[in-house]
Amino acid sequence: MSNSVITSILHPLRIGKHIAQYPIVQGAMAVRVSGANLAGAVANAGGVGVIATLGIGLDSPYFDKRKRKSFFTANKLALIDELKKARNISPDGVIGVNILVATKDYAALAQTAAAQGANIIITGAGLPLSLPEYTVDYPDVALVPTVANVDSAQFLCQTWQSRYNRLPDALIVENCQMIGGHFTQCEQADTPGFSVATVISQLRDYLEKHIGVMIPLIVSGGICDRSDIDCMMQIGANGVQMGTRFITTLECDADPRYKERHLQAHATDVVTVPSPVGKPSRALGNLFTEQVMTDSSTLEGRCIANCLEVCLFRDKRKTYCLLQALSQAARGDVENGLIFSGTNVSNSKRMMSVAELMAELTRSPNISHEGDYKYSEVN
Ligand SMILES: Cc1cc2nc3c(=O)[nH]c(=O)nc-3n(C[C@H](O)[C@H](O)[C@H](O)COP(=O)(O)O)c2cc1C
Repeated sequence: MSNSVITSILHPLRIGKHIAQYPIVQGAMAVRVSGANLAGAVANAGGVGVIATLGIGLDSPYFDKRKRKSFFTANKLALIDELKKARNISPDGVIGVNILVATKDYAALAQTAAAQGANIIITGAGLPLSLPEYTVDYPDVALVPTVANVDSAQFLCQTWQSRYNRLPDALIVENCQMIGGHFTQCEQADTPGFSVATVISQLRDYLEKHIGVMIPLIVSGGICDRSDIDCMMQIGANGVQMGTRFITTLECDADPRYKERHLQAHATDVVTVPSPVGKPSRALGNLFTEQVMTDSSTLEGRCIANCLEVCLFRDKRKTYCLLQALSQAARGDVENGLIFSGTNVSNSKRMMSVAELMAELTRSPNISHEGDYKYSEVN
């Protein structure tokens, strides 16, 4: 991506009852890489700011490391704190909460997020077949599942329609070839004609013919600049979700060493490693990923919070403790922790504020006399 010119005006993104000025969703990033600071700043700048809940309570005062059970209460209380903090930063912006379906406290966190004023709940790592049940008392909370292909979108829509007479307020579509963090294996993506553009067009077709409702489609993975955004709009997306590019912002909640590691990284540093959730994941290569790929039994650590419904580490002593690996990196140990990253990592050239990044991404195109597109300073 990233070779074309600016071709479009960006339209606001409506998700359920909530309207973001720009069609840019900041991807959730665990553990505490996207907390209140980043989410609040993005919401303030006109995008959708998203708080990641995986392990949110881990380094909070609510978690007593000697009592694993306190982890779930800690997650809830820490989420309440982060939502309040984000809302203070952005009283009127659109703020979302991301919850992994694969976690044990997914239902409790969804209820908490809805009750505590999240505008949107976005889910990852699994199909949220029962999600509407958890937010039934909060009809204004928009529900946005992440899907990898048309089959999973279809199954989800059919299930929600028959069980709850409800549809998703938007769908996030993974570009499995580029996305940072977990992704659904996509062997077919290398086959000519099978790409995120194909998935978007198949989804549009399915939604038009079988559902008859316009559901916004948001592409996630590999998007780093305005021309990428325009590309996604041209293939029929209504919005984009960007994670990696937001890591190198001043407001990102991770340790400065984590951000610095991203600034220095090249595309060739990105590797695919197995994860205890049973999916492949994309990350920056380091000592940790080398150990995972050679012999993960040499890795130190234990299951610290029993957080996942199914965990290869806890159940089979395979791979590693996801929470510990992600949080270690985010707190600055960039050799011994897991640094999720998308393939576009080398496009982050310098640290900037969220406002500056959003301005760069959203400047309006003007057509010059030569017929070239040029940025305008106003929007
Ligand atoms: C450091 C990092 C952590 C992530 N954590 C989560 C997460 O907790 N939940 C989730 O659904 N997606 C997670 N993702 C995926 C992002 O939300 C987003 O979809 C992805 O970063 C988009 O691809 P890009 O990084 O190429 O922009 C993570 C990605 C990164 C880079």
